[in-house]
Amino acid sequence: MVDGIRSEGGATTSSDPMEFDLYATIAAKSMLRAAREELRAVLGVDEAIVAMGQGKLVFRCPISSLRALGDDLGQIKALERVGYLMTYRETTESSPHGSPESLDDLARLLAEECDWRKAAKLLGGGRKLQFRVKRSGNVLRGHSTSEIARSLALGGVVDERAGWSVSVRGDLTVTVELSDVGVLVGVLIAKQADFNEGNVEVKGLDPVVAWGLVRAADPKEGEVLLDLCVGRGLVLAEAHRLCGGLGSVLGLDLDEAMVESASTNTAGLHRAQIMRADATRVPLRSGSVDLIVSDLPFGYKMGGSVEDNAGLYTKIFAEMERLLRRDTGRAVLLTNHDNHPNMASCLERAAWLKLVTRRHVLLGRQKCFIYLVAGAGASGANEVLKPGVFEWEERRGKERWSKRRRLSRKGLKLVVV
Ligand SMILES: C[S@@+](CC[C@H](N)C(=O)[O-])C[C@H]1O[C@@H](n2cnc3c(N)ncnc32)[C@H](O)[C@@H]1O
Repeated sequence: MVDGIRSEGGATTSSDPMEFDLYATIAAKSMLRAAREELRAVLGVDEAIVAMGQGKLVFRCPISSLRALGDDLGQIKALERVGYLMTYRETTESSPHGSPESLDDLARLLAEECDWRKAAKLLGGGRKLQFRVKRSGNVLRGHSTSEIARSLALGGVVDERAGWSVSVRGDLTVTVELSDVGVLVGVLIAKQADFNEGNVEVKGLDPVVAWGLVRAADPKEGEVLLDLCVGRGLVLAEAHRLCGGLGSVLGLDLDEAMVESASTNTAGLHRAQIMRADATRVPLRSGSVDLIVSDLPFGYKMGGSVEDNAGLYTKIFAEMERLLRRDTGRAVLLTNHDNHPNMASCLERAAWLKLVTRRHVLLGRQKCFIYLVAGAGASGANEVLKPGVFEWEERRGKERWSKRRRLSRKGLKLVVV
């Protein structure tokens, strides 16, 4: 147990009124070491307790230190969110009832164990709170998370003297995390500034795979990136994350619903443009594109068949050779294993695009390949490569991509000032 945080009957409370307890969310076990290192280097936190079945870190640090960092808070990439810890109760052998057993039990816990007045002093009074509930395992299984949030909002659990009101849309978020291993209540203070999955309204390609595709294309400031089959726009979102300074990020799709969806998902992105167009007849000038990154139709979920794709891929390749800059142009294409003969014949017939690397990747259970193709002048095009691995990765593994993707974000940003 960390000095200064004591556990009483399973409830974690601060013993020093001058110091405040914070919690941070980590997305995966693989981020734990990086998270600890960042806490030490940026916030001077030497010890942090792993909580909530490894999903959280609980530590001591004044909120003022977080605030004083300003933009330097962006050095923290490994933590998803940081919040002010109102209470944390673990389910242990000595305290088997860490998780609340009923809504009344939970309301009592929030009313009696959370010091709303102290929190209002630290975070500013007169604000509107909203409750966000996350539930996993068997705890309060008979209730939906929205029902729990509503019941807390209506239940008057916030101390009236705190000067806060509860609303459906508040300017402060109270997070209530319920699981079989315990309960954690906190107020969100900072979160990752990047466009992330949380902002994507409609899911499409796995964002980690989309990140890997863009990373393989090695985007540089000022370059024009095009996705010929934009779907829901995940590739463009990841391109923006990896290289905010791209000249433009363009996406096209034949399907009106996809165009709409990609437009929604990329609405906040700088210099992004989505259009309805055919990948085989793109309304752009020859040699006007630096990078093409596309998740091609497989003939699996998105209609078509491997036979149809033979014609489609041939036309797409011809269009890519017209659109890409001859000197530095490069493309990264994803398709499934069944379409490999189509890709192989396109590569054989290509006038100037050559295969640089072909990497295997699993999408769910679907065996797929990522093809990096480039002209002779593109960076990396002539390197001697490890078979099946991109030159920037040490070894295979989407898990590694996931970690690298997180560590390349813009970093934490305060949501409460
Ligand atoms: C495999 S999906 C792409 C999924 C996308 N990466 C995502 O994240 O949602 C293929 C997309 O290609 C589009 N498509 C199929 N044929 C096309 C064509 N000739 N021109 C443009 N888009 C096409 C489909 O409408 C579909 O949205």
